Amino acid sequence: MTRIGLNEKLEAASSIYLIEKKEDLPTDVCTSKELDYISQTLKDDFNYAVVNQYDRQLVIVKVANENSYQNIEKARKAGAKILGVLNGAKVESAEIIRANASDAYLVAVAEGMALANYQFLKYFKDADKKRNTLNTINIVSDSIDQQNVNELIAGVEANSWAKDMVNEPLSYLTATELANQIVEKTTPLGVKVEVLDQLKIETLKMGGLLAVNQGSLDPATFTIMEWKPENARNTKPIVLVGKGIVYDTGGLSLKPTANSMDFMKSDMGGAAAMAGAIYAVAKANVPVHVVGLIPATDNRPSGNAYAPGDVINMYNGLTVEVLNTDAEGRMVMADALSYAKKYDPELVIDAATLTGAAVAALGPEASAIMGTAGEKTMEGLKTAGFSTYERVVEFPFFEEYGEYLKSDIADLKNIGGPLAGTITAGKFLENFTDYPWIHVDIAPTAWSKAAKDYTPKGATASGVRLFFEFIKNYAK
Ligand code: BES
Ligand code: MN
Ligand code: ZN
Repeated sequence: MTRIGLNEKLEAASSIYLIEKKEDLPTDVCTSKELDYISQTLKDDFNYAVVNQYDRQLVIVKVANENSYQNIEKARKAGAKILGVLNGAKVESAEIIRANASDAYLVAVAEGMALANYQFLKYFKDADKKRNTLNTINIVSDSIDQQNVNELIAGVEANSWAKDMVNEPLSYLTATELANQIVEKTTPLGVKVEVLDQLKIETLKMGGLLAVNQGSLDPATFTIMEWKPENARNTKPIVLVGKGIVYDTGGLSLKPTANSMDFMKSDMGGAAAMAGAIYAVAKANVPVHVVGLIPATDNRPSGNAYAPGDVINMYNGLTVEVLNTDAEGRMVMADALSYAKKYDPELVIDAATLTGAAVAALGPEASAIMGTAGEKTMEGLKTAGFSTYERVVEFPFFEEYGEYLKSDIADLKNIGGPLAGTITAGKFLENFTDYPWIHVDIAPTAWSKAAKDYTPKGATASGVRLFFEFIKNYAK
């Protein structure tokens, strides 16, 4: 993992200078010939020039003087490109120096670099050979706030941990291991974690989670995280609920599409997003009371798997006719959302890789949101989406969509038909809420089929930076 520091003394580091205009060029760090080359190269904002000075690389980035979210994203992308150059030159450490630029750009370039530097090498024999050389980033600025850098570090670490969990295959990351990871990573930060085991889940009669788990040889888990700082700004907690399907085969309604199972280890992306966000909140000591709920199991066909036609008694007493066992996410999320009521929450946000329909609607550019929280809260999440560039788009949530879920023999059925699949999944969940609530369908964004900018191929950890940002803003 990339180490990020502030105003540290580094030996033999490469330097990245951020400037707004050519006159800001640090003339004492290069020759006049190099200076000529640099000023020719830096025509537009976010161009960068690289000078190989043999024992180090000198990089000059021209940033904009206007501080918009689009420009901040360009700075992250520039950071990712520069990282590629530095790793290519076998550089181990780099300092990002504020020659003349707003500190927000220093943070964004560092963030782009650190995010792009993520690698999942655990299963390679020659991992050491494959490992990027760059391991340390030092931010040099006399105006930046230490807390700002702490938050950057917290966000990047959380993002990297969430990616690890999503990249881990089912052969390692079972529901039990997911719970273990959460205990190991977040309790040292002061998060209280309780793991409900199979027996406890049975005692509580979480019928949705138990139904999905019926086909599994491994026990389900239900993990409860709580971050409750003494100086919390909220009296009632924010509850974050994350879908923890550690593998989704579809169950007896086995997934039909060619290759559609290949990345279904990522079906606990919502769990990773919420556990990661709470990790970041605790690591950066954000004064907001947050609870996390993670229902977890794999979804498999087997001798005792739940079957289409089954009627399930859910944790809150509603009955559900299962007509497709591949609509399992909503079954486990429903019980967790019902469980959230006991916290009398100010707000509940859930994140789930819930529907292929959301992927079809949005592609990898955004997640879908909908719910019953007020407009101000919805707008708050959208704003956090733009500033982190983990963008969200609000879908309609008309009550008519709820009627698609009427069952002939039970209170609800678990599928709404071929139309508006993302919305009917949300409407299903709404039946299990009675508090201000936002549902986030991260199926479009949780897994990336190709590396792009600072997002590597595979797990993206989408949601971690989004929810962390939302909660930081909530504290203000
Ligand atoms: N985990 C899937 C959704 C998914 C699809 C995530 C593609 C990421 C990429 C979910 O459990 C699922 O199978 N949903 C079904 C619901 C349907 C049966 C109503 C779907 O979207 O096809
Ligand atoms: Mn499914
Ligand atoms: Zn699923």
